[in-house]
Amino acid sequence: FESGALAGQRVVITAGPTREPLDPVRYISNHSSGKMGYALARAAIDAGASVQLVSGPVAIPVPERADCRSVTTAQEMLDVCMELVEHCDIFIGCAAVADYRPLIESEQKIKKSSEEMSLKLTRNPDVLATVAGHAAKPFSVGFAAETENLREHALGKLERKGLSMIVANDVSDSSIGFNSENNAALLLWRDANGNGELDVEQCSKDVLAGIVIAQIAKLRQV
Ligand code: C5P
Repeated sequence: FESGALAGQRVVITAGPTREPLDPVRYISNHSSGKMGYALARAAIDAGASVQLVSGPVAIPVPERADCRSVTTAQEMLDVCMELVEHCDIFIGCAAVADYRPLIESEQKIKKSSEEMSLKLTRNPDVLATVAGHAAKPFSVGFAAETENLREHALGKLERKGLSMIVANDVSDSSIGFNSENNAALLLWRDANGNGELDVEQCSKDVLAGIVIAQIAKLRQV
């Protein structure tokens, strides 16, 4: 993309996993590395944007010139994003937010007792859908990891979450996506002409990030 394609744009990006505590020493989480979100942050900075990362716990360095707010739970991620949305032009939800959290966070370490135990979980808020629905109306971009009917499921998410664009990837292929270096994706968006799409073949997360940022810049210009 052209350098300066996102000059003056304020971009907020969620990245990494969330952790939902069960007790003082345990949590529910996932294998998200944060690599895709951090690659997007670098690409947006290279395009001239000012970038705020809202990141769950990851083991990779914060990109130079990005501001990073570290969070743990989905609720904390939502709280920080709602604070930032008022001063945000483009919001990219790349975090692997836990869909559920333990209904009760035990104050004391849970002791083992019977052979079986059940956990009661409750739904977490949808960070992306909540931000996309905010009155500030940022240009909102989501990710969709699917194992089948990629286009159909991703278009459903685009609609339901009120997004401007969605980056869909097929996670039935283990060489791409979660925790891997590479990714491939189908970019889907709505514009004045109806639907648009761009198929991106397997490439590094840095290359994919550049393509996603370039497409956002293009859609913002028309
Ligand atoms: O519905 P699904 O989890 O597949 O949607 C994925 C997209 O929604 C991703 O962009 C993810 O960051 C975002 N999301 C979110 N908060 C949730 C669940 C998903 O922001 N609780």
